[in-house]
Formats: sequence, structure tokens, C-alpha cells
Amino acid sequence: MAEALLQLSDVHAAYGEVEVLRGLDLEVGEGEVVVLLGANGAGKTTTLRAICGMVGTRGSVRLAGQELVGRPTEWVIRQGIAHVPQGRGVFGSLSVEENLRVGAWNRRDTAGIQADIERWYGVFPRLAERRTQLAGGMSGGEQQMLAVARGLMGRPRLLLLDEPSLGLAQIITRELFRQLEQINREESVSMLIVEQNAELALSFAGRGYVLESGSIVLGGTADEVRGNEDMRRAYLGY
Ligand SMILES: Nc1ncnc2c1ncn2[C@@H]1O[C@H](COP(=O)(O)OP(=O)(O)O)[C@@H](O)[C@H]1O
Ligand SMILES: [Mg+2]
Repeated sequence: MAEALLQLSDVHAAYGEVEVLRGLDLEVGEGEVVVLLGANGAGKTTTLRAICGMVGTRGSVRLAGQELVGRPTEWVIRQGIAHVPQGRGVFGSLSVEENLRVGAWNRRDTAGIQADIERWYGVFPRLAERRTQLAGGMSGGEQQMLAVARGLMGRPRLLLLDEPSLGLAQIITRELFRQLEQINREESVSMLIVEQNAELALSFAGRGYVLESGSIVLGGTADEVRGNEDMRRAYLGY
């Protein structure tokens, strides 16, 4: 069988002396949406940081067969990964459109960049209405949509999303996930999503993993994860 687009094998990551990931295995196939679940402090954010070379990491992280461990973040991102960190991280003092242009930093195709800006305005009409406004003045939901659109401006093969629904009203979250679903379907961008809203994430993802104290304790199709009794009790509350 061909290797997955993203393949993590026996990944260990530490902040100084404190090991946070302890032999983690995980994969995301081409075109696949995978959700990573787990309690606060389990190591979800660190997993995304390990993929991007933002934390001291051992083991293997491969993108399309290419080893990423030991590479600087900028190099990793250039291989086709977009990372939307927890808490969004748009540039508040730049306009919506300037934020989108920053997301295309790795590209030189001016016409293509402009076409993509219009494309994401089409997907997220609220951003189009606010294109000249400062990102810092927008609502949380709008900033999250901008963060996603900015990530997509780099034309990634893989989108890493860290708790995209954090602080968003339920209705905005649903809207965001609907759009992510469409982007996955139409652009075949693979996605690894860290999400607290397990029910919603599992309704959208093809597969899921549960992380506990730095290792995967459960992995399977969304239905398998949803059907697991421990999982239901811990994350779905029934
Ligand atoms: N910069 C850091 N320095 C030291 N410890 C950290 C740092 N960031 C996170 N940690 C610790 O690593 C563990 C995992 O954190 P994190 O990956 O953020 O978990 P999650 O995203 O699942 O809530 C936690 O115990 C947290 O306190
Ligand atoms: Mg986190």
C-alpha cells in the first residue's frame, strides 16, 4: 500500500526536559480529513507543532515520503503544509486582503494569487465585505475564517487546524465546518483537525484519533471512534 500523505511514526516531542509526545503514530491519507481528539493538555497542539518543526522532536514525520523532522519550520511549510494555530493568529493591524496576501508569501504567480483571493472571497462572503477593514476589528468567527483562508492562500496539500471552533458560536462553527467540507471536496486539500467539539468533528472527518498523555489510545473510522464506549463517555457525554 502506498504511504499516506502524512505519516507520523514513533514521534516524541519535548519542551526542555518535559516529554509531551511519547511514541505517537498517526497518518493522514491523500484527500482525507482526520480529527485529533483529546483532553486539555493531552498534546494535541504539540502534535501539530511537531509536524511543523516548532518543538524538539524525535522519530519520523513524513510528508509524501519526505522526512520533516530536523527541518526548519519555513522549509516544512514550503513542502505544502498550512498551519492555522490555536487562537487564530491573523495579523490584526493588517487588512483582510493584506492578510490573504501574506498567506501567499511562498508564491510568485500574481494572477493566480489574485484569482485565489477572489475564490476565498466567494467561499467566505463576509471576508469580501470586509476586505479593506483591519482584521483585528472583526468578530472571532470572521477572524477564524480569515485564518483558514490565509492558510489556503499558500495552496497547501495539507491543512493543520488547531481548535478552529474555539470561542465561536455554534452556528458560526457549523458554517465554518460546512465550508471546510466543501474545500476538502472541491480542492482535495487533506486536513488534520484538532477539535473540542468531537461530535461535529466526527460528523465531518473520515477518521479520528484520541490522544491521551502524548500517545494515541484509540484510532479508527469516525464511526468506530464514535462507537467506542470510553470515547463516548469521555468526549461525547453519553
Ligand atoms: N511551551 C511549552 N513549554 C512547556 N510545556 C508546555 C508548552 N506548551 C505546552 N506544554 C505542556 O505540554 C502538554 C501538552 O500541551 P498541548 O500540546 O498544548 O496540549 P493540548 O493542545 O492537547 O491541550 C501540557 O502539559 C502543557 O502544559
Ligand atoms: Mg491545544
